[in-house]
Amino acid sequence: MIRLKDFTSLCKAEFYLVLAWRNDERIAPFMHSKQISFNEHLKFFEELKFNTNKKYFLVYDDEEILGVISFVKTKQIYEFGLYQNPNLKGFGKILMQEILNHAFLNLKLKKLNAKVLKSNQKALNLYLNFGFKIYKEDKDIFYITHAGGGL
Ligand SMILES: CC(C)(COP(=O)(O)OP(=O)(O)OC[C@H]1O[C@@H](n2cnc3c(N)ncnc32)[C@H](O)[C@@H]1OP(=O)(O)O)[C@@H](O)C(=O)NCCC(=O)NCCS
Repeated sequence: MIRLKDFTSLCKAEFYLVLAWRNDERIAPFMHSKQISFNEHLKFFEELKFNTNKKYFLVYDDEEILGVISFVKTKQIYEFGLYQNPNLKGFGKILMQEILNHAFLNLKLKKLNAKVLKSNQKALNLYLNFGFKIYKEDKDIFYITHAGGGL
């Protein structure tokens, strides 16, 4: 069974696992450009305790962690993020479905946005298959959006 575990309630092992994933060469190049130190990771987790505009979850399938999904609110607009457990393949659809469920059924958003590097073909295909549309682009990035309802 799929369940979400909020980053504010992770145990020590999960905390370190997420740090390793954030710096994993199969994930990091698609998310950010620099190495994340232990102190930065700790600061990021501390911020999540009081910043209600940022929500991060581990996605569990029974005892297995499939990946991470996130929601960041800026000026009333929500952006999602995701990455899969780097040791797994083919669970992007499940992570994506959890994102849409949380956004449109729990948070009852009217709109959900994200950014994706133009070079990240796997992520882009996944998003387009789930009904996201590109509404803007610049040199390196596609900006995508999905309207609520119709789930
Ligand atoms: C984006 C992401 C979630 C997409 O996940 P996904 O759609 O499940 O795709 P995967 O990365 O697992 O790759 C699917 C590939 O694995 C293969 N595959 C699927 N299930 C498999 C399995 N059980 N065993 C082996 N291979 C499998 C598919 O055929 C496909 O092959 P390809 O290499 O020819 O494309 C994932 O690639 C990821 O976490 N990437 C890094 C972080 C990232 O880019 N995040 C998004 C930022 S905008």
